Amino acid sequence: MKKSQILSYLKGRQPGFASGGEISKILGVSRTAVWKHIQALREDGYGIDAVPRCGYKLVGIPDRLYADEIMYGLDTKSIGRNVFYYDRVDSTNREAKELASAGAPSGSLVVAEEQAGGKGRLGKGWFSPWGMGIWCSVILRPDVNIGQAHLITMLTAVAVASAVEKDLGVKPGIKWPNDLLVDGKKICGILTEMSAEMENISYLVVGLGINANIPSSAFPGELKDTATSLQAIKNGPVSRLLLLRLFLEEFEYYYLMWLKSGFLPILREWKKRCITLNRRVKVKTLKESWEGWAEDVDSTGELILRMPDGSTQRFIAGEVSLNNRPQ
Ligand code: BTN
Repeated sequence: MKKSQILSYLKGRQPGFASGGEISKILGVSRTAVWKHIQALREDGYGIDAVPRCGYKLVGIPDRLYADEIMYGLDTKSIGRNVFYYDRVDSTNREAKELASAGAPSGSLVVAEEQAGGKGRLGKGWFSPWGMGIWCSVILRPDVNIGQAHLITMLTAVAVASAVEKDLGVKPGIKWPNDLLVDGKKICGILTEMSAEMENISYLVVGLGINANIPSSAFPGELKDTATSLQAIKNGPVSRLLLLRLFLEEFEYYYLMWLKSGFLPILREWKKRCITLNRRVKVKTLKESWEGWAEDVDSTGELILRMPDGSTQRFIAGEVSLNNRPQ
C-alpha cells in the first residue's frame, strides 16, 4: 500500500524530485522504509533516480499491466477498480472464476502478462505470449435475465472496437459473433463464461485477448494467415496500458447503457461495425456447415442466414468464414 502511495506521490511530482524527508513525513513512514519501497519499485522495473540533496525522481515506467498503472487516471466507477495482476497464469478466465466464486466484487479485473493455457472459443486455445498482449477477464454481476447474459460478449466487442479506434485511429470490424478483425485478420477474441443458480446469474466472466505487440514472425504457423497484432498494423509498438484503460472506460460506458436502456442502442453500434452482414458467408457449427446470405443479427444476437431456397436459418453460435476463407 505504502509502495503504491510512494509511486503515486512521485508521479504527482514529475518531472521534479521529491525528497526522502518529504515523502516520509507525508506518508508517515521512516526514511529507511521509504528507501526500501523505492528499492522494491526499482525491482518492479520503475526507473527512479536518487540525487543527494534533491531526493527521488521517477524517470521510467515499466511496460507492465500493474494494478497501480491501470488504475492511475482511470475514469471508471466500478470496472477495473479492483485489479488482480499476475505475471503468469494458466488462464485469466479460470482465475477470475475462482476469484468470483470467492466473492470478488463486480467490476474486478484479472490481468496477466502471460497465459500458459489461454482458452479460446469452441474449445480452442489462445496464444498469449508474455508482455505482448492484453490478456484479461472482467468479473460482472449484472441484474439481467439469464437469457441475456451472452449479449455481454457483443457489448465487449463494441467496447474494444471503440477503444482501438479512439486510441490508434484503426477501425476494427466485428465478425459475428465477436471477433475483431483488421484487414481480414483477427486482433481480438472474446470468451464469456457464466455461473448461475436456477434463473439467477451469480457472475459473468468476460475474457478478452487483444494482440497488441506480437511481431508477425512470432505467431505460430497455424495462426500466421488468420491473426495479426496492432503493432504489425501500426508499424510500431502500442501502449498496452493506454489501450487497456480506454477499453475499461468504454466498457463501463456501454455496460451502464445496457443496464439502463437495454440492448438495442448497443446492437446499433455493433451493427455499424459488423462486417458479417449483407454478404455470402459460410457458418460452421459443431455438427454442420451452412452457406447463405447473412441477412441480419437480431436483438438476441442470433445470426439469420437466408438460404438459397429462400428459407432462413438462425444461429446462436458458430464460426463464420467470409469470402470462403476461415478467419
Ligand atoms: C476466441 O477464441 O476468439 C476467444 C479468445 C479469448 C481469449 C481471452 S485471453 C484472456 C481470457 N482468458 C482466457 O483464457 N481466454 C480469454
